[in-house]
Amino acid sequence: MKEDIKEHYDAYPYPARDPQDEHHRLITGSPSNPLEIDHHVFGGHRDWSKPLRVLVAGGGSGDGLIQVAQSLTTAKRAYDITYIDLSVSTRKIAEERAEIRGLKNITFVTDSLLNASDYGLFDYIDCCGVLHHLPDPQAGFDALSKALAPDGGMGFMVYAPYGRSGVYPLQEAFGDLTAGMTPQDRLEFGKTVFQKIPQNHEFKRNTLVGDHQDGDAGFYDLLLHSQDISCTVKDVVRYLEHSGLVLQNFTQPAMYSLDGILPQGFKRSKNIGHVDEMQLTEKLRGNMKTHVGYAMKAGARVKLDPTEPAGIPHFIGEDPQKAAAFILQKGGLPVAINGQKIGIGISPQAAKLLALVDGLSNVGALQKKSGLGPDDFNAAWQKLSDLLCSYGLMLYSGLNEH
Ligand SMILES: C[S@@+](CC[C@H](N)C(=O)[O-])C[C@H]1O[C@@H](n2cnc3c(N)ncnc32)[C@H](O)[C@@H]1O
Repeated sequence: MKEDIKEHYDAYPYPARDPQDEHHRLITGSPSNPLEIDHHVFGGHRDWSKPLRVLVAGGGSGDGLIQVAQSLTTAKRAYDITYIDLSVSTRKIAEERAEIRGLKNITFVTDSLLNASDYGLFDYIDCCGVLHHLPDPQAGFDALSKALAPDGGMGFMVYAPYGRSGVYPLQEAFGDLTAGMTPQDRLEFGKTVFQKIPQNHEFKRNTLVGDHQDGDAGFYDLLLHSQDISCTVKDVVRYLEHSGLVLQNFTQPAMYSLDGILPQGFKRSKNIGHVDEMQLTEKLRGNMKTHVGYAMKAGARVKLDPTEPAGIPHFIGEDPQKAAAFILQKGGLPVAINGQKIGIGISPQAAKLLALVDGLSNVGALQKKSGLGPDDFNAAWQKLSDLLCSYGLMLYSGLNEH
């Protein structure tokens, strides 16, 4: 099986990237934005005077690697990154991207992430879009847990089944029909047959998936993958717990809450715990293609206190002043998650607090600028912060505090 994966990614490195694009854009996202790492893994209070030891496990063509290395370089923070991937041609793309940007302190390794702990102990492990491609995902979780420092954390993305409806029957059928073919012949076969698949096939009705339209690497990765085991919330939690890790949080916890879905006043059974709730929400929403989150060693979970005066909040996405002006006009913010448009109601008082956020001022300074007394400020701030954090729109970090 392992050979198949190596053959696949050597032929079609994923995601397809032209290193020359590094001259004019930086790809950012979750996991592994350093603000997000600080927020979820270090409670927003990482001591950035210490170098961050990072493992990028299954680093592919380098999106996560470049994001971490470039963001820390820009913030003038020290780091030491080990990149591991099975595929040599994919690694070359990542190396060229790093070289074009002049990024230092990266060690590139061609190996299996199952050997991660041979390369040391890491404060942070990025593993995005990889663990579901292992023959035994649990072995991957176990190997990364072994390579994680006691107070470190892992940012992960794994595929989720319901938002990928229609993908798996096609992968299975293509797999049976193309056994023994070269990757190039598989691709040609797959693309030819795909045209004959009826428009009302579950896959073609699924508006959430689109990688097959993004060139050969995307088509191959989505529909011709030979090893793709998607995970429900309960699978994720089980894999983590078995490997001695614990879920710190998903990056958009609001998407895993039954609030807003169940009728007002509905009395839930007391037997429905937090994981059950997240699993039920995944089933009811049906639109999650991935689970993106952060995990820690069992017992090392951090709790972030948004009213802690030294915490530095960042508003993610756009200019907080513009967002505040929009809220004052419209009464809230629109967000689009998993193809669903959601309106988040925010009060005028909260909008005025949001307008004070600049990514440099700490909560104590914001309280002073707000003109509110500590108790009134804390109550209003906590409500706003909890809401924005639950959509991944607010993160706490002193990354830029020099
Ligand atoms: C879907 S790509 C994701 C790449 C990258 N993490 C990203 O998010 O853009 C999966 C990558 O995992 C690598 N991979 C798969 N199994 C692996 C293993 N056991 N050890 C190391 N790399 C592996 C593949 O070679 C491929 O480059």
